[in-house]
Amino acid sequence: MSEKKNLNIGLIGYGFMGRTHSNAYCKVNNFFDLEYRPKLKAVCGRNEENAKAFANNWGYESIETDWKALIARDDIDAVDICTPNNTHSEIAIAAAKAGKMILCEKPLSMNAPEGEEMVKVIEEAGVANTVWYNYRRVPAVSLAKQLIDEGRLGKIFHYRANFLQDWTISSDLPQGGEALWRLDVNAAGSGVTGDLLAHCIDTALWLNGGITDVSAMTETFVKERMHSLTGKVEKVGIDDACSFMCHFGNGSLGLFESTRYARGHKALYTLEINGENASIRWDLHDLHRLEYFDHGDDPLVRGWRSVHVTDGDMPYMDKWWVPGLQIGYEHTFVHHVADFLDNLAKGTPTSPTFREALETQKVCDAVLNSASSRQWVNV
Ligand SMILES: NC(=O)c1ccc[n+]([C@@H]2O[C@H](COP(=O)([O-])OP(=O)(O)OC[C@H]3O[C@@H](n4cnc5c(N)ncnc54)[C@H](O)[C@@H]3O)[C@@H](O)[C@H]2O)c1
Repeated sequence: MSEKKNLNIGLIGYGFMGRTHSNAYCKVNNFFDLEYRPKLKAVCGRNEENAKAFANNWGYESIETDWKALIARDDIDAVDICTPNNTHSEIAIAAAKAGKMILCEKPLSMNAPEGEEMVKVIEEAGVANTVWYNYRRVPAVSLAKQLIDEGRLGKIFHYRANFLQDWTISSDLPQGGEALWRLDVNAAGSGVTGDLLAHCIDTALWLNGGITDVSAMTETFVKERMHSLTGKVEKVGIDDACSFMCHFGNGSLGLFESTRYARGHKALYTLEINGENASIRWDLHDLHRLEYFDHGDDPLVRGWRSVHVTDGDMPYMDKWWVPGLQIGYEHTFVHHVADFLDNLAKGTPTSPTFREALETQKVCDAVLNSASSRQWVNV
């Protein structure tokens, strides 16, 4: 393709997601043929020295230490929000009002009402937007979507998903501050529900359609922790574990579980869908494989197939190596940027948009309300 148009990126937050996104911006044009090229204009972090080191490492042209200054700059086209959940709304609303495109990390917001306000402002501003629910763009998960949309599973009966971790079991672990903001309800909004189940819910809504009502239970196993910012032992406000069951609009039943207390599991995101004709199963620890059972197979050799999702006719895979050679976690972010840039050129939205991500937020709110009220709650 001829001369590319620059898309000037202003990244806010240089932690885990700041790195995955920067990596994606650097790689995307090497593998995807696109009209636009992301230009790493500025990174914003509150610590000047760290921001400079990050900028040098990834090739950002400049730094800011206040996100408001970044948004005020004329040379920034798109703002990428990679900061803790309690900052998403204020930054996104300010960026939309300044006419910037927005790529916002998940979860969209602290809760659904906050998300509603974000959607309202961003749609009024008419700026391109997307939320980084990156697991949709694992090729095996995209392939699952294709198989379901082709009707191969037939009527869906069951949707099951787990997201299991084990990193907060120690009661000595503090809450709050850098790295541990996920344990502080004021920064995170919720615990595993907004952090881990939000991913499972986003994928489920995408693959299996809307959720109508939920019945949930949550538990906070460690009730008090030292707060890193105040130095005091404070009540823990997040859910350490959450399980819920639900009905989907298509008549299927859902079962979801997430915890940070499953000793031995680091990021075990698994999902299984059972349909009338076929079932599929996926596991983040083996993310390039899709397991598939087709009842229509010859009964003598019928069984679960483990499909190695690396062939060029499978989603995204024609852009990478040769059949048989797999890709990994970081590529999901490259795919998201590629789709965003492609859609920008075509003038079409990139899923999930803020409006679509709000649906996940509504389910999360219903789950937390159900757990506290011990009642079924409509979404
Ligand atoms: N898509 C995914 O799979 C995925 C994975 C991890 C995190 N996330 C989401 O990404 C966001 C960030 O998470 P993370 O793991 O990168 O966290 P992190 O703690 O690694 O990084 C957060 C960064 O934000 C910075 N920051 C905080 N407040 C700021 C402010 N006011 N101005 C500028 N910078 C500020 C911190 O200094 C840090 O650099 C969260 O919303 C989280 O839920 C998504």
